[in-house]
Amino acid sequence: MNRAWKGLLKSGIIFLTLSLFVYMFYHIDFLEFQRTPNPPFKNTRGSSDPGSNRNSCTFRPLSPEEIDEENTLLDSIAWPNTPSVPPPVSLNDTTNAARSNFVILPRPGGGSWLVGDQLEVMIKMFDFKGRPKNHGGDFLLVRLHNRTLEAGVAGQVVDHLNGTYSAVFLLPWEGKSQVEVTLVHPSEAIPFLQQFAGEKPNGVDFYSTFHSGLLTQKTMCSVCLPPTQQPQCNYTDLNTGELWFCYKPQNLSCDARIKHFSIYQNSSKVKEDILFKNGVTMNVGIPASGPAHVIVFPKMKGQLAATTDKDIPGPAGYYYKGLWSSLSGATVKRFNNASAISHCLKDKVVHMYGDSTVRQWLEFLSSELSDLKVYNLHNMKQAGPYVALDYAKNIFVTYRCHGLPIRILPSPVTELHYVANELDGITGGKTTVVVFGVWAHFTTFPIKYYIRRLMSIRKAVVRLLARAPDTRIIIRTANLKNSPSPFSAQLGGDWPSLQRDKILRTMFQGMDVYFVDAWEMTVAHYLKHDIHPPRPIIKNMIDVVLSYICP
Ligand SMILES: *[C@@H]1O[C@H](CO)[C@@H](O)[C@H](O)[C@H]1NC(C)=O
Ligand SMILES: *[C@@H]1O[C@H](CO)[C@@H](O)[C@H](O)[C@H]1NC(C)=O
Ligand SMILES: *[C@@H]1O[C@H](CO)[C@@H](O)[C@H](O)[C@H]1NC(C)=O
Ligand SMILES: *[C@@H]1O[C@H](CO)[C@@H](O)[C@H](O)[C@H]1NC(C)=O
Ligand SMILES: *[C@@H]1O[C@H](CO)[C@@H](O)[C@H](O)[C@H]1NC(C)=O
Ligand SMILES: *[C@@H]1O[C@H](CO)[C@@H](O)[C@H](O)[C@H]1NC(C)=O
Ligand SMILES: *[C@@H]1O[C@H](CO)[C@@H](O)[C@H](O)[C@H]1NC(C)=O
Repeated sequence: MNRAWKGLLKSGIIFLTLSLFVYMFYHIDFLEFQRTPNPPFKNTRGSSDPGSNRNSCTFRPLSPEEIDEENTLLDSIAWPNTPSVPPPVSLNDTTNAARSNFVILPRPGGGSWLVGDQLEVMIKMFDFKGRPKNHGGDFLLVRLHNRTLEAGVAGQVVDHLNGTYSAVFLLPWEGKSQVEVTLVHPSEAIPFLQQFAGEKPNGVDFYSTFHSGLLTQKTMCSVCLPPTQQPQCNYTDLNTGELWFCYKPQNLSCDARIKHFSIYQNSSKVKEDILFKNGVTMNVGIPASGPAHVIVFPKMKGQLAATTDKDIPGPAGYYYKGLWSSLSGATVKRFNNASAISHCLKDKVVHMYGDSTVRQWLEFLSSELSDLKVYNLHNMKQAGPYVALDYAKNIFVTYRCHGLPIRILPSPVTELHYVANELDGITGGKTTVVVFGVWAHFTTFPIKYYIRRLMSIRKAVVRLLARAPDTRIIIRTANLKNSPSPFSAQLGGDWPSLQRDKILRTMFQGMDVYFVDAWEMTVAHYLKHDIHPPRPIIKNMIDVVLSYICP
């Protein structure tokens, strides 16, 4: 790698190199989803295939209370069972969105729809042979929207477990709006996703480079290393208890580990392609039988809102004219120019931790605030860490990636810090803001690994809030992605993200922390889903963040 770079530079293709760096900075998403057919070096995986070894993952031991909590969490994300079909999978019994339909139910109590009403939609599923489905478990996304008004709100789906579903929407604005129902995955695909993203960590391999003197070696690393004859290095973090192992390089000591990187596995690992065909079995719109729109009138004094009998939480917020309004948290204020933003951040220290979806927030701030100077400390664009300073306004912002198991180009292991350890190093107080978002890189690991990671972060949050209760702690949830291929859906599509997102929300519920609901902010928006939401969505997210900091 190093020699290749030098070769490029020597040949004078500096322009190409520079463009590549620029490209990497702005197209990290592409890089993060690139696949390398084979590791460019000899694999030390040993004889057993990690994908075939279900029990090779090692988890941090839990206390009895933690075990109880883990069981409750696992129950809370249990997905309805799908009758298991022996392979080969046929489409015959699979949910077919194109043959399914939805109906908007009449307003309870009659009359016209009014702002503030709850609207209910009944969705009926059919399979590819046209037979009604008689079990639940399909993964649906629903929203109500009007593109011209740049208005949108996510609906809540109730699975009746008999092949029918209800979707409930709040009607926050007046005018004509469309109901949109999308089948993301048929229930038949879920067991494969569970296997892929759960018990069998797959799709991404992690490696470390070891270096000392003239020797350089690379070995595979994970919390899910199949045991082989080869001894392992134990990189357990003593403070958090987080585990990480690498196969010991043959002629180097475990202390010689210098870099960490990941490689996407060849897509030949993808299973049951037929269940993951974009536009056929995956990400397909369900047509309305009858009108797909409603016309909503303003509510007059004294008129009561119509409600369904479904006892479900309302939406977190909605878009109107492209602006996000919150229905669950603080009123969202608009920070439309640099002076409004820097006025809010004046004298503040903002620490950001997480994946590239959090880094987007720093990138947004630096692009808006010309006086906020960002330094990347000569590190990888992808990993950071970054430090940004507006000296005159006394604004200090940092960003650091959440550490292992980050999917990344070769990066120094010295820069991979666990979020909990970072939080333990923060004094906190009313001028300190902590932001974190930890989700996207966990989708190929068993959910138990994610639960343990959040437990360690939560303990550190509790300690931080105990020593400095005025510290503002803001959590960014997961968001929707665009996963058109079997590979991307299985590796970390919206279903594995949803499961982790539910865990995240449950674990931090009731604490003195603030959520940015990236999930609903991407469901409700008209722009195409993207792991890195486009700028108009980021702008709204920053409005929410700043509204928490400067209510
Ligand atoms: C993946 O591996 C299979 C079998 O080893 C090979 O036939 C296929 O061409 C590879 N695909 C890619 C995208 O490299
Ligand atoms: C699916 O249906 C087709 C046509 O009815 C039939 O020939 C085929 O055997 C069925 N496949 C399975 C696995 O049931
Ligand atoms: C499915 O269950 C729902 C809720 O209990 C019920 O309203 C509906 O009629 C049922 N549908 C079928 C087809 O059984
Ligand atoms: C969106 O709202 C505008 C203004 O109320 C209306 O003219 C238009 O028909 C609506 N569009 C859709 C697709 O419902
Ligand atoms: C790894 O190290 C930790 C901390 O020293 C220790 O508790 C744990 O038992 C070790 N694990 C293995 C598999 O050696
Ligand atoms: C390690 O050292 C032994 C003995 O010098 C040598 O045979 C072997 O090839 C070395 N292994 C690697 C991976 O360099
Ligand atoms: C920036 O926005 C604030 C609040 O919306 C407004 O009061 C102020 O006039 C704006 N400043 C500039 C320079 O546009």
